[in-house]
Amino acid sequence: MLLRSQRRQYHGTFFFRNRPELQLLCSLASRQPKGSTLKVAVLACSNGAEAYSIMYALRSAQPDRKIVFHAVDIASEVVEIAREGIYPRESQQLIGSAIFERMTCSEERRMFHCEDGYVRVQDWVREGIEWHVGDAGDPELHSVLGPMDIVVANKFLCHMDAPDAERCLRAIAPLVRSGGYLFVSGVDLAVRTRVARDLNWTPVSELLEEIHDGDPSVRGDWPWRYWGLEPLDRSRKDWQIRYASVFQLGAKTAAQPLTELIAAK
Ligand SMILES: C[S@@+](CC[C@H](N)C(=O)[O-])C[C@H]1O[C@@H](n2cnc3c(N)ncnc32)[C@H](O)[C@@H]1O
Repeated sequence: MLLRSQRRQYHGTFFFRNRPELQLLCSLASRQPKGSTLKVAVLACSNGAEAYSIMYALRSAQPDRKIVFHAVDIASEVVEIAREGIYPRESQQLIGSAIFERMTCSEERRMFHCEDGYVRVQDWVREGIEWHVGDAGDPELHSVLGPMDIVVANKFLCHMDAPDAERCLRAIAPLVRSGGYLFVSGVDLAVRTRVARDLNWTPVSELLEEIHDGDPSVRGDWPWRYWGLEPLDRSRKDWQIRYASVFQLGAKTAAQPLTELIAAK
């Protein structure tokens, strides 16, 4: 990412912002043990569009799955909008972007009830989401949420200075249970790569390129805005870890080499 303007936080978001990412999330969720409760946390949820899109995708894919779902944002005013799940049809008035523009008509019909100039998220999508006002980087968040199978932390770390973003990303990692997954996009690539290497995260290669290119607003803003995402460069030696935005945390990796075991004795 390039630093071309002053960093500041934005609330802008979209329903179905990155479809390959939703596809991977559902696929990873479907591999959890049969009958188990799926635990998901969406950090920096803004007005709820991302959390509702994820719940819609998960419940469409696995209608009978029990899901514990937490959504957190630091700004109480957007959490209130998210909790209500009611959006003006002309959503540009709300947060400065056309939040419905990436949805198909049939998705809009399944997701919302339409009421005079407003849409309301349907109960089958809303039910079970717990909304919180909180700081994603607060180490206490773990005691509120508990260990999660999937944590989504998208498009807010890039709005922080690098040291703050790194601190926050390191604080988020313990929310993911061992073997669980962290989705983290919209963060300076150098910050994410450093933390991923340091904490031994395993990049998920499935749909890596599709997810990288899956959000036209960040790819299209490169190199003009600091949040712009550079084109994926496969000639880089570190391309997998640099461009992955989904990681498995704490999973057992390849067996420790025998020489290391002997040396450790
Ligand atoms: C650009 S929106 C991203 C929304 C959504 N995650 C997405 O990808 O479309 C950034 C959101 O991050 C929230 N935010 C910023 N810092 C945060 C923090 N430390 N903890 C939780 N939320 C934060 C802001 O209030 C804002 O709603």
